[in-house]
Parts: sequence; C-alpha cells; structure tokens
Amino acid sequence: MRLYQLGKLGGLDALQLRDVDAPRPGTGQVAVRIRACSLNHRDLNIVSGNYTSLPLKPGAIPLSDGAGEIAAVGPEVTRWKLGDRVAPIFVQRWFGGNLLSEYMPSALGGPSDGVLAEHIVLSEEGLVRIPSHMSFEQASTLPCAAVTAWNAAFVKGQLQPGHTIVTLGTGGVSLFAAQLGLMTGARVIATTGSDEKIERLRKLGVREVINYRTTPDWDMRVRELTGGRGADLVVEVGGPGSLEKSIAAIRYCGHISVVGTLAGKATIDPGTLFAKRASMCGIQVGSRDMFEEMNRALEVAKLEPVIDRVFDFAEARKAYEYLASGKHFGKVVIRIS
Ligand SMILES: NC(=O)c1ccc[n+]([C@@H]2O[C@H](COP(=O)([O-])OP(=O)(O)OC[C@H]3O[C@@H](n4cnc5c(N)ncnc54)[C@H](OP(=O)(O)O)[C@@H]3O)[C@@H](O)[C@H]2O)c1
Repeated sequence: MRLYQLGKLGGLDALQLRDVDAPRPGTGQVAVRIRACSLNHRDLNIVSGNYTSLPLKPGAIPLSDGAGEIAAVGPEVTRWKLGDRVAPIFVQRWFGGNLLSEYMPSALGGPSDGVLAEHIVLSEEGLVRIPSHMSFEQASTLPCAAVTAWNAAFVKGQLQPGHTIVTLGTGGVSLFAAQLGLMTGARVIATTGSDEKIERLRKLGVREVINYRTTPDWDMRVRELTGGRGADLVVEVGGPGSLEKSIAAIRYCGHISVVGTLAGKATIDPGTLFAKRASMCGIQVGSRDMFEEMNRALEVAKLEPVIDRVFDFAEARKAYEYLASGKHFGKVVIRIS
C-alpha cells in the first residue's frame, strides 16, 4: 500500500511517498481503508517544523482527518464489522469528560501516526460512524475542523437559537462554526479578508459579513449590527489584534472560544475581559462523545461540509500548497481511490 511519511521537517520536501506492507490489526484493533483525507492549518505547521505541542517521531504519517471503511477486524473487536463507514477521532484516547494532558500524545498526524495512507490500523475505540448522508470526502473534513467548531460553539460556547455568533475568516473551523450557527437558528456574523469570499459566504446563507481588511475595526461593526449589545460568542482563530477586537465585540458576560492564533501569539489585558465579565477558554478539538453527538445533529440537519478543492493522493503536495496559499474557502481534501 502507499502512504506518506514525514522526513526532515522544514517544508513540503518532508512529504515522502512510500510503498509499504499494509498493517494488520491486532487484538482490539481494526484496519481502515482510508478513502479521503482533509487538511487543517496545523498540518502546515507540522510539515514546516513549527508545531511546538509535542515532538513528532521520525517517519510519522501526516494528517489527522480522514474517512474510510473497515477493511479488517482483529480479535475481540465488538464495535465494528467489515464495510462500516468510519472516521478516526483526533485525540485517540479522549472518549469523554475532560481532556487530560496524558491523552495528547495520541493525537493523530502528530505526534501519533496519521491518516495519509491507503490503510491504517487503530484501536476500535478510536473511531466514530460517519453521517449516512455524507460521502467519504465530506466526512473526511469532520474529525478536527468540525469537532473543534462544535466544541467551540455548543460545548464551551453554549450557543443557542437567537444568539449571535461571530466567525473569523473562511477556513475549515470558521465555516463549520458558521454552518452550525445557521443550523441552530443563531445569527451569524462572519468576517473575511476577501470580497470574493463575501459572496461565497452569502451563498452559504450568512447574511452579515465584514471584510476585516477594509473594515479593520470589525468589532465596532459587530456592535453596530447588534444594536450596541455585542455578540454572545466569538470563535477566535486570529490571535494578535483580533483577540482584543473579539473582546470588544462580545456582549456583557459574553464568551470567546479561543481556537487558534493564525497570525501569531496574542497578548491581552485581563482588565478588558473583566470589564465585560466575559469568559474565554482554550479549545482542543473535542472528545469522541462530542464527535458522536455532532454527527447525530449533522445527520438530522443534512449539513454539507464546504469542500473547496479535491486533490488526488499523488498530488498531496499540491493540496498542502493550495491550503498554504490561503485561497481556499472551507476544506481542502485528498481523495484516495
Ligand atoms: N485548538 C484546536 O483544537 C484547533 C483545531 C483546529 C484548528 N485550530 C487552529 O485554528 C486556526 C484555524 O484553523 P483552520 O484549519 O480552520 O485554518 P484554515 O482552514 O487554514 O483557514 C485559515 C483562514 O483564516 C483566515 N485568516 C487568516 N489570517 C487571519 C487573521 N489574521 N484574522 C482572521 N482570519 C484570518 C483566512 O480566511 P479569509 O481568506 O476568509 O480571510 C484563511 O483562509 C489555526 O490557527 C489552527 O491551528 C485549532
């Protein structure tokens, strides 16, 4: 079978296509024939050697997000049978409850082996069933980006119908957060740095969009749009500059789910948070329970993930380059036929 391994980190030359023997499942394990993978911003950081969370083992398989079907079951497996359509959970040991730091080494695509391979072997506990209405390509976008948005919006963010949620940019996490907001009857205000993407957001059903380049004080615009009250929730992916604006954009006692720092590290004055009596918390994707809960909701709503482009397995490098270009709207997928 074919897989990609990470050689010397520092750029896309680290991506090395190899032919190896397919792995066989041991006790309590299953083999998954991966049919599609998707990329996340962290995958760019990992390949360039700028991912500081935990060290990668040499020759690690990249990417956390994929979907496929059960191709073989090991002894004592009870959760799955051949042909079941599944996706891996991001932190393989986090099934429910609070995240513990000792679970983190089991995160896929770094530090644990990921999914950019024709076959992978995982514990039978490390998978969920994918929504029945989704293709493998659509479902491959869920494990990191969608679960993060679900956690940020509903678990930590406590989003409810009628609330106002602000999403920043049109990457994977932000578009899922916007779609989840629309799905639940929330008011969605989205930002983007591109006028062309404003139109795409409108087509998705987001009526209120702010260009953060031409309106750098987008926090003021959020306050105007909400009659001075501010938003209930911001899903924060920006970092410097944007975090202080997110605090300014939320209502009294509002919440900020801090997901990422696309533009580098941010510093904040805790006094601004205190003045709002607001809450802010860091998000780490989500547990298996959250993934399963989300999939039930996506299935009822028939939510369709936004896929911008699909690349073939042999073109993985081009997929990374496209994500790095920032031209994408939503998810970038790699098909494995
Ligand atoms: N904590 C977690 O568990 C977790 C999980 C997933 C992702 N993350 C983090 O969340 C962030 C987003 O990840 P992703 O995979 O969704 O990214 P992505 O798909 O690569 O999307 C990035 C998009 O963000 C927008 N953007 C770039 N710089 C921005 C800025 N300074 N302010 C506002 N928007 C900006 C751009 O959209 P426009 O072109 O529309 O402006 C860009 O296309 C990353 O920092 C990632 O590491 C964290």
